[in-house]
Amino acid sequence: MQLVDTHVHVNFKDFLPDLEDVRSRWQKVGVTRLVHSCVTPGEFQEIQSIADKFPELSFAVGLHPLDARMWHSDMEAQIRELAQSDRRVVAIGETGLDFYKAENQTEQMESFRRQLAIARDLDLPAIIHCRDAASATCEVLQEFNALNPERPARGVMHCWAGTPEETQWFLDLGMYISFSGVVTFKNAANLQESARIVSSDRLLIETDCPFLAPVPKRGKRNEPSYVLHVAEKLAELRGETLETLAEQTTANAYRLFNLG
Ligand code: NI
Repeated sequence: MQLVDTHVHVNFKDFLPDLEDVRSRWQKVGVTRLVHSCVTPGEFQEIQSIADKFPELSFAVGLHPLDARMWHSDMEAQIRELAQSDRRVVAIGETGLDFYKAENQTEQMESFRRQLAIARDLDLPAIIHCRDAASATCEVLQEFNALNPERPARGVMHCWAGTPEETQWFLDLGMYISFSGVVTFKNAANLQESARIVSSDRLLIETDCPFLAPVPKRGKRNEPSYVLHVAEKLAELRGETLETLAEQTTANAYRLFNLG
């Protein structure tokens, strides 16, 4: 059985002491490919050197919405250049909108729109972070698609936590939906309902480690091997075998991120 963890941050200092052991554990449970996300372009070299050691890692480059205050036109050029500088870059992001606490909504929207344009120009998918901002995210995507009917936005709603209604909005926009450990939480009934309505060709799994460890590891540092718990929960919710769920989500990750 093969699994793809489509969203990790193993460059964070949480993993400094034992990344080799962490890797043995992801290999043991069958995680054969990983997509490393990127919070700021400043992380790029660090991520590259981790991928030099672990060839199963592909990665993204982009700016997280909570860091959108750093956005400027030079950064746009920088992201474009970095994305074209390394064949292991498979996505732009993470971008998107996070209105949970943020006051910089205008900056976030600008940075999101510009990164969608980079993704379009380089024919890469976008990794979209969306927290307390489903309708605004949907509007930005619809507006982008109206302006770019030939090259509509494509990508993944990562660490998805939306209601079934919101999930349907993004499915209608052609997005993939990626579930993290949040779907295993006791109080996640609404999200678990969302997991049931995603068609099997749009479903992805991720850990978003080191954050949000799934049950039964909740509260601990998260790591890629725990993506197995996300897969098990999704299989249970969807009434499928773990093997089928693994096969579908692996095929989807290969297709979206062109991992072949
Ligand atoms: Ni992330």
